[in-house]
Amino acid sequence: MSRAKRKIDHIQHALKTGQKRNNGFSDILFLHQSLPDTAVHHIDMHTEIGGLVLSSPIFINAMTGGGGSETVKINEALSSAAAECGIPVAVGSQMSAIRNPSERESYEIVRKVNQKGVLFANLGSEATPDQAKTAIDMIEANALQIHLNVVQELVMPEGDRDFSGALNRISAIAEAVDVPVFVKEVGFGINREAASKLADAGVKAIDVGGYGGTNFARIENERRSRLLESFNDWGIPTAASIAEIASSVKDVSIIGSGGIQDAMDIAKAVALGASGAGMAGFFLKILIEDGYEALVLEIKNVQEELKMIMAALGAESVKQLQEAPVIISGFTHHYLSERNAD
Ligand code: FNR
Repeated sequence: MSRAKRKIDHIQHALKTGQKRNNGFSDILFLHQSLPDTAVHHIDMHTEIGGLVLSSPIFINAMTGGGGSETVKINEALSSAAAECGIPVAVGSQMSAIRNPSERESYEIVRKVNQKGVLFANLGSEATPDQAKTAIDMIEANALQIHLNVVQELVMPEGDRDFSGALNRISAIAEAVDVPVFVKEVGFGINREAASKLADAGVKAIDVGGYGGTNFARIENERRSRLLESFNDWGIPTAASIAEIASSVKDVSIIGSGGIQDAMDIAKAVALGASGAGMAGFFLKILIEDGYEALVLEIKNVQEELKMIMAALGAESVKQLQEAPVIISGFTHHYLSERNAD
């Protein structure tokens, strides 16, 4: 199967398999504050992720690229919406365009329609430092995301089977490039031991890409004739992954992602220790099913609602929201006790 066909397949199956949204945030309760002593107009949503100062803690996470005119249109729309709302946007893996320059258009369009915005380049951990530099230059990226997707590869019939050496390659890339390197999962979460190794390797932000939203084991199984179902419910839920890393790994920004769909999910991700949150499948669904204007409206609504939540909690900045008291119950509490991380 061609890479182009696979990318369109991914989009269709991502929409079809949907988002169960069992990412653990329902276990998190904010402690209500009757005396927040602030005003909505005092809320400042600026944040800092891996050395980048951003006007909002929300961004559009990596999805697509390569694969012909349909992906050009999707990337153009995602990047224009990001520009209109003042949020960063990541492109999907650029390896196809590095191997086949005729596929560069769907990535380059992202910078073309968003000259001043913050863009994240994206590659897998098989990349070399030279490929990383090419991906960054292709879109004049402000940061590079490297995705880790072992389980997706295993379930993909044509996927990789050898995962050795990834940490060394990431370290070499972090050393070689002159933008911050972020490492992300794609829906299976990151534990604190892996996060700590990545921080030591020079990674500036860890995007947990937790379980509970888009599920690449199920998406890949939709494309297999002989199912590999062991991984269908595999992974660390987003809330638990953020909390366990935040309690133990220092000097690295944390990004909450995986099944994030609204302002409350984002607020909870930040309260558990994230500096920002990425949304992928949910935004793609709105764009494809309801169109560009609906996506822009949704992003603006999420930003507005996040401000309201921060005001209710008396948190005037993202830093203060990170300190907001929460009650953790259910599976997430159990997970964190087992991991001695609460
Ligand atoms: C993705 N994702 C992804 N991630 C990545 O690092 N490189 C990529 O090329 C892709 N491609 C991709 C395609 C499609 C159609 C989807 C829906 C997602 C994963 C994405 O960035 C994110 O980590 C997961 O989707 C989990 O977040 P959501 O979707 O639950 O918000």
